Amino acid sequence: MLRRESQPTHERFKMNNPSRKLALIAALFGTLLVAGCGQTGGGEEEDTPEANAFRYREGLMTVIAAKMAPIGAMARGEMPVDEQTFVEYTNDLAALSNMVSEGFETEGIASGSASLPEIWTNMDDFQQKLEEFQQSAEGLAEAANNGGFEAARGLVQGTAGTCGGCHRSYRRRAEE
Ligand code: HEC
Repeated sequence: MLRRESQPTHERFKMNNPSRKLALIAALFGTLLVAGCGQTGGGEEEDTPEANAFRYREGLMTVIAAKMAPIGAMARGEMPVDEQTFVEYTNDLAALSNMVSEGFETEGIASGSASLPEIWTNMDDFQQKLEEFQQSAEGLAEAANNGGFEAARGLVQGTAGTCGGCHRSYRRRAEE
């Protein structure tokens, strides 16, 4: 009941079932733990609500980027197309996009965070940019589920564009 390993991947990922969500959360949690352990540069690990929110979104964004990169590379022809991975990752991306808002519920910018204060002063606009990402990622996953790589390929650039659409206004640039 918990796992459905024997089903073909396209069947597993078509279903928006709770076990898929659980598996994703477990995977994400593992990544967050690893990300957390690797973070010793800033001295003492802060245990404030702001620091916890920052670690959550940092881990989440890292996973989002890890899914987006191969999707983009396949679409640009820079990486051999693997249908199964493509379909799986687009579905992961759509699910991950629905976990972003949690990372911004606690207002405040912990040390090391690249979030800009405008997130909380322009929350409506921030939410709109988040919705653009969610809708685009969901459309991409749906196209991949229904028609595979060829059907979804043309949507990849649009989805990737929604990352920058938010970062431009709400994420501090590295060099600043
Ligand atoms: C609605 C806004 C929004 C969207 C959409 C968004 N991001 Fe982000 N992202 C942020 C913010 C804000 C930060 C800075 C978080 C912090 O440091 O507190 C960030 C940080 C990151 C980071 C740095 C993580 C780290 O190591 O600290 C990466 C990588 C990233 N985003 C990738 C992506 C990718 C790839 C997409 C699209 C597939 C995406 N983001 C979509 C807002 C967004």
